[in-house]
Amino acid sequence: MATSKTAAVLQGKKVVVIGGTSGLGFAAASALIEEGVSVIIASSSADRVTAAITKLSDPAQQYNADASRVSGHALNLKGPTAEENLKEFFSKVGSFDHLLYTAGDSIAAKPLQEWSYEDIVNAGSVRFISAVLAIKVATGSPDYLKRNGGSIVLTTGVVAEKPLPNWSVVASYASGLYGLTRNLALDLAPLGIRINAISPGPVETELWAGIPEKERKEFLKATGDKLMTGKVGQPEDVANAYVYLLKDKNMTAQVVTSDAGSSVADRQ
Ligand SMILES: NC(=O)c1ccc[n+]([C@@H]2O[C@H](COP(=O)([O-])OP(=O)(O)OC[C@H]3O[C@@H](n4cnc5c(N)ncnc54)[C@H](OP(=O)(O)O)[C@@H]3O)[C@@H](O)[C@H]2O)c1
Repeated sequence: MATSKTAAVLQGKKVVVIGGTSGLGFAAASALIEEGVSVIIASSSADRVTAAITKLSDPAQQYNADASRVSGHALNLKGPTAEENLKEFFSKVGSFDHLLYTAGDSIAAKPLQEWSYEDIVNAGSVRFISAVLAIKVATGSPDYLKRNGGSIVLTTGVVAEKPLPNWSVVASYASGLYGLTRNLALDLAPLGIRINAISPGPVETELWAGIPEKERKEFLKATGDKLMTGKVGQPEDVANAYVYLLKDKNMTAQVVTSDAGSSVADRQ
């Protein structure tokens, strides 16, 4: 009997999703469970990890749900203890096939004159510095991310390509993730590990939860009106891009953009 060359290639794989409790990471974890993958999610809050595991294991909310394929751990990626926390996390996880990194905290865009040294470091702590450290720890031992077939997907954003007023510091980290992806692809190639990144445009996730509801709805509507698709992205749409990058063994050193066309032009 023929075996699947595309539809079921991730079945039985073990994928770690750092930032898997909400937004893009949660949607990617959900899509992977649909594909028959075992997922291990992580975020800074033990309560949010438990809540996400409950949702991802519930047949009423999750297609192809199977509680035995969902687990998770609390992992704080902010500040100088991040590397120690990552070592402890990966020692609990053990061997796995792929790593998705979607963790990022919300940051207020503001004029350059208002950024202090601490603000600049803080803005990059979770989304950039700890992404580097996660890859360092995960690939530092053959007991963690599998070699000769393993892969990594990072998360950047279209602000790296299309400037927004007062987003210069965030844009710097987003651009840094492009360079990191391309250079690490070269560095990790001898281990047989691929690395790519997703660059989303505006997506309706919990990232925007800090904005009061009425203002948030108006912001998402106004943002969507300017997009070629007429609306901001949904996390489950972008989740397909993460799944694709795990499946395509010919892809490395690339950034895949899922942005409703926003990096190319605004809707006219
Ligand atoms: N949504 C968009 O429009 C958009 C557009 C372009 C780029 N991006 C980027 O995509 C990434 C994911 O965004 P999202 O929209 O999915 O955001 P989200 O829904 O807020 O998810 C962020 C994830 O990161 C985790 N996280 C935050 N701080 C953490 C910490 N200190 N330690 C460990 N985990 C932490 C969160 O969990 P806990 O809070 O429980 O720790 C959550 O699981 C971010 O880097 C964001 O900048 C998003």
